[in-house]
Amino acid sequence: MKNNIEKAYFLKLTRKILSWYDLHSRNLPWRETQKPYNIWISEIILQQTRVEQGWNHYVNFIKRFPTVKELHEAENDEVLLYWKGLGYYSRALNLHKASHQIIEEYNGEFPDTFAGLQNLKGVGKYTAAAIASISYGERVPAIDGNFYRVFSRILADDFDIASPKAYSYFYDLILPFVDKDRPGDFNQAVMDIGSQVCKPKNPDCVNCPVNEECLAYATNRIQELPVKSKKIKVETLDLHYYFVKYGDHFLIRQRDESFIWKKLYEFPDEIPDELKDCIVFEKTVQHKLTHKTLNITFSRVEPEDEMIFEKLSSNGNYIIVDIEESHKKSFPKPLEKIIQEWD
Ligand code: ADE
Repeated sequence: MKNNIEKAYFLKLTRKILSWYDLHSRNLPWRETQKPYNIWISEIILQQTRVEQGWNHYVNFIKRFPTVKELHEAENDEVLLYWKGLGYYSRALNLHKASHQIIEEYNGEFPDTFAGLQNLKGVGKYTAAAIASISYGERVPAIDGNFYRVFSRILADDFDIASPKAYSYFYDLILPFVDKDRPGDFNQAVMDIGSQVCKPKNPDCVNCPVNEECLAYATNRIQELPVKSKKIKVETLDLHYYFVKYGDHFLIRQRDESFIWKKLYEFPDEIPDELKDCIVFEKTVQHKLTHKTLNITFSRVEPEDEMIFEKLSSNGNYIIVDIEESHKKSFPKPLEKIIQEWD
């Protein structure tokens, strides 16, 4: 799809999006100005906040801190007070820090390019693109979740939006659509279409201004798009193993079939207190599995007499193996390494 989109198609789509915006754009307080300071404040507020909820906060914030100078001169606590109710307070702290950057490093002038804006604390690609396009007319797409959804659908593109490559892929894909004369309006039009028409659930395709151009609508794939793979949550686990060695022998037992390392052999994961005096050294290693990061501490234990060793084996259902024999059994990788190092 990417390489053969016709120029006429771009133009038509862009024209329809802007015409829709001319008729349906929401009257929002930050749309009454193009001042970069105001656009910046609004975009930071709206990052994790719904328009309805952000509205009053924006108005009150601008009333109290009408320019970057007042924000720079304010106490941290007062800035936080004006953020009350919005959550994610790091946004307010970053705003305050960025106001110091602007006054102290930029002579009170806002950076005026997409690249330059990203030097401000808390300003990422999306916010920089929104400010650059709305305030300075720079032709860059402001790509957020709305953009991914709207353009995945319009172009029936199944690129995984959770992929680390999604941003640059969609940037290249969408750039030709961004109107060179009205990039800020184009970006805000897509935001509005994304939040009011092309909604995640129950999109209003019948009333969509680009339903005739939408390839997902034509092929009945709206519900499947965008494609977003589930992030694998990596859990961290702390484990402790005791490599209990007497002569050429050490203790092991077989794991069951639940959890990780099914049916493999392992060392004891606890020892009686009286044996703790026999720990000769310890070592902690990190081992990564697909869904888990294991921090494993190994203690080498050398009991002073055979009786304790045997007692431990019968109490804990461990088996005593000879180092040589142990090669016939399978151990998880990090345990295998310890046997090689510590035998
Ligand atoms: N969400 C984020 N930025 C927005 C904007 N400028 N207008 C409407 N919704 C938004």
